[in-house]
Order: sequence, then C-alpha cells, then structure tokens
Amino acid sequence: MRVLVSGGAGYIGSHTVIRLVEAGHDVVVVDDFSNAKPTVVGRLEALTGTSVPVHSFDLTDVDKTEHLFANETIDAVIHFAGFKAVGESVAKPLDYYQNNLDSTFSLLRAMRRHDVRTLVFSSSATVYGAEPRLPMTEDLPTSATNPYGWTKVMIEQVLTDVAASDDRLRIAALRYFNPVGAHVSGDIGEDPSGIPNNLMPFVAQVAVGRREKLSVFGDDYDTPDGTGVRDYIHVDDLAAGHVAALDRISAGTTPMSIWNLGTGQGVSVLEVIKAFERASGRPIPYEIAPRRAGDIAASYADPSRANSELGWYATKTIDDMCADTWRWQSKNPNGYPDA
Ligand SMILES: NC(=O)c1ccc[n+]([C@@H]2O[C@H](COP(=O)([O-])OP(=O)(O)OC[C@H]3O[C@@H](n4cnc5c(N)ncnc54)[C@H](O)[C@@H]3O)[C@@H](O)[C@H]2O)c1
Repeated sequence: MRVLVSGGAGYIGSHTVIRLVEAGHDVVVVDDFSNAKPTVVGRLEALTGTSVPVHSFDLTDVDKTEHLFANETIDAVIHFAGFKAVGESVAKPLDYYQNNLDSTFSLLRAMRRHDVRTLVFSSSATVYGAEPRLPMTEDLPTSATNPYGWTKVMIEQVLTDVAASDDRLRIAALRYFNPVGAHVSGDIGEDPSGIPNNLMPFVAQVAVGRREKLSVFGDDYDTPDGTGVRDYIHVDDLAAGHVAALDRISAGTTPMSIWNLGTGQGVSVLEVIKAFERASGRPIPYEIAPRRAGDIAASYADPSRANSELGWYATKTIDDMCADTWRWQSKNPNGYPDA
C-alpha cells in the first residue's frame, strides 16, 4: 500500500515510517514541522535506503490537503499529526481543539472525496479518564482530564460516527500507553523542544548532563513504592502495532476498531530511574516533589484484544527501552541538528 503518514517527521511517526517500509509499503509524509526537525527526513532515508517524499504544510489547511490527495496516490492514512502536551493544552485549549480536530476533519473530507477508506488514528490511554479500572480494557467508558485528552475522546467519537455512516470504511483508533525508547540505530528518537514533559526524555537529559536532576512528582501514591506506575511501551513495538492494525483492517470488514497498545506491565518512576542507571552506567540524581495536578497513580493496559486480533505483542523490556533511549541520547545529546 501507499500510506500517507501525517506527522511522519515526529517521534512515533518517524519510527512507524521505518516499520512500514520494512513491511514493503510505500510512504508519503505530511508534516508542518511545528514539532519536528527537517533533519529527521535524511536519517529516515539513510535507515530505510529509500526516498521519503515529504509534503510540508499544516493539515488544518483544507485546500492544501485536498491538493495533496489530488496529486498523490494514497491507499491508506496513518494520522499522527497533532499537538500532544497536556500542560500546554490547559493553557491553550483553543489551539489544541483547533489543530487536533481540524486536521482530522481535513483528512476525513479529502479521504472521502478521493475514495481513500483506510485510516489508523493515534489515540491515547488518556481517554480512560481520571479513575480507570485496572488493567484498562477497550470497553471502559471514555472521558478526559484536560483539553488534549478531550481532543482524543472527541476524535474517537467523530471516527465512530463517520465509520457508522459508511460501511466501506476501515478505521482503527489505537490507544497508546506510554511510548518510550528509540530506533536501535540510535539515529532517530524523541527530541522534545524545551523542557521534556515526559519522564523518559527527562531522565535521558539528566543522564547526558543537559539537566541537573529529575523531579519525581509524588511518592505517596497507592503503588508498591509510592511513585506513579505507567505502562511503558517501546516505540518500535508501537510502530509494529500500526503495521499490524493497518494489515488487519484493510483485510477485514469492520468499519471501526479500537485497540490498546501497551505491554500490560506497570513500571514505577523509581524502577525507570534504576533501569536507566543500569543502561547508561550513570547516576540519575532526583528529588521528590509534590504530586502534579491531574496525574493518576497507575495506568496499564489490558493488551489482550490487540494480542489476539492483531497477532501483535509488545516484545521489548524496560531495559531495552532504556538502552535504546540512551543510545539515541548519547549519540545526539542535543537532539536532531537544525540542518
Ligand atoms: N508520545 C506520546 O506519549 C503519545 C501518547 C499517546 C498518543 N500520542 C499521540 O500520537 C501522535 C504522535 O505523537 P508523537 O509523540 O510522535 O508527537 P510529535 O509531536 O513528535 O509528532 C507529531 C507530528 O505532527 C506534526 N504536526 C502537528 N500538527 C500538525 C498539523 N496541523 N499539520 C501537519 N503536521 C502537524 C508535528 O510537527 C510533529 O512532527 C499524536 O497524535 C499524539 O497525541 C502520543
């Protein structure tokens, strides 16, 4: 298939481009580089040994999106493009609703006009809301605790309604747990701009000397060591999950599918710190700080639906995730170069 990867220059999109090419698909990327560096493209081409066509524009632009579909052959879309920082979404809710929803509407309209019926969407475990039952199964009710999360809940609803209106559509929403790690080459990885919002890139920046110490937000949760527990999933396993979902929906007859992509294992903040110290051979200084508003004690998937229906399993351990993150961070202490 020729797959349009929206947000394909970003963290998860770039790793998925590699997996798609390895699986024999052709790839076209659209990204406005609002949260990515153009230098990732050369690295993707070097790693895949193929040229990766890139269209650089904002998907909320309906005319440009239409022009893209009119001029490229596209069999399926994987839609990663969107803003993703929870705290920023609280400060700038309109930017989040507009970017995440309008980009999805543009794509869905262009897909309909050009008879493209297959779509895989980046959703998130955040749609399970503030007090989910554990482990989280796909049939739990959805809600959110911040505007970013609501964009995911709303887009899932839009996709469900659109799929119900046309039984030729093949749509999947993939609910990611906590993606971490990097490509095994160490040449592509997560490159947050500014202060990282997520634990693993922050730990990596402490290890490499870019930041002095880590703040651990809360050590009095109802978890084995008191720190927050999350289901970390290697980005390469996540990327493989997209290829599996794409294959499954395009061969199937179900208009709308939802799958959790996680390992099913909860790992605490202190366990991540210890694993990263093992991987890097460096100490990770940390201090205990107050809980962060909106954080929940524990989050982990029941991945059994994806396991049985997609034949997909997360294969990598927390030690693999830390080793690959460290390889990326130590080869690229300041992330991707500007040019
Ligand atoms: N990383 C996570 O922890 C996580 C967890 C759950 C879900 N997700 C979702 O997965 C998707 C990808 O996440 P990521 O971590 O790779 O983020 P990312 O920011 O690295 O990638 C998103 C890409 O989309 C591009 N983009 C944003 N808005 C755009 C627009 N209007 N038009 C064109 N390009 C646009 C950005 O430049 C960026 O390259 C997002 O939808 C995110 O919400 C991420």
